[in-house]
Amino acid sequence: MEYIGHSCFIIEDDKRILIDPFITGNPSASKGMDDMKGIDLVLVTHGHGDHLGDAMEIAIDNDATFVAMYELTNFAAKKGVKKVEPMNIGGTIHVDDVEITMTNALHSSDFEGGAGHAAGFIVSLKDHKVYHAGDTGVFYDMKLIGQIYKPDISILPIGSRFTMGIREATKAVELIGSEYVVPMHFGTYPALDQDPYEFKKKVGEKAKVIVLKPGESITF
Ligand code: NI
Ligand code: MN
Repeated sequence: MEYIGHSCFIIEDDKRILIDPFITGNPSASKGMDDMKGIDLVLVTHGHGDHLGDAMEIAIDNDATFVAMYELTNFAAKKGVKKVEPMNIGGTIHVDDVEITMTNALHSSDFEGGAGHAAGFIVSLKDHKVYHAGDTGVFYDMKLIGQIYKPDISILPIGSRFTMGIREATKAVELIGSEYVVPMHFGTYPALDQDPYEFKKKVGEKAKVIVLKPGESITF
């Protein structure tokens, strides 16, 4: 798993899965658009610019499958994305042997000509299940997400202001119960300035918090 920056990750198994590719205009992006090659799936949690980002262009360039909320895939299809997989909260799909479930997120969404709803994803790989929470506040049903899907890796926003902050994300860790937790959506802008090591300290023994800097990777 590679952290590109903000909420953008590349998860690699047999397939290369790109989530929330905010590259252009992202001050923390560790990669440029020229590096976005060999992508099989592009997953987008919601329509805000720091998540939808370059997703449509990358999907078109790579002939990759664009996976998102129904309203957002309709929009992408109109913009020329050929392969789209529309879904909605609670649904599961299989694309290229990858199982993807869309989860709720407590957050708004909008894009040119639409809104839809914000979401998160459970991505089931051969040996791991990754929960990318998208932009969200903490919600008690994260416990249900933990119980049903049992993700061993959770990627959670900690930047506050637009999403959970450290206090709420620490509670989210308890509710979900993943062994590993990777913080995201902090530090990109001064408004999202939070200390991931303070988060790690607060989580303590409840999970192994792995702080990645943009450009860093970890193999599970
Ligand atoms: Ni957002
Ligand atoms: Mn955001």
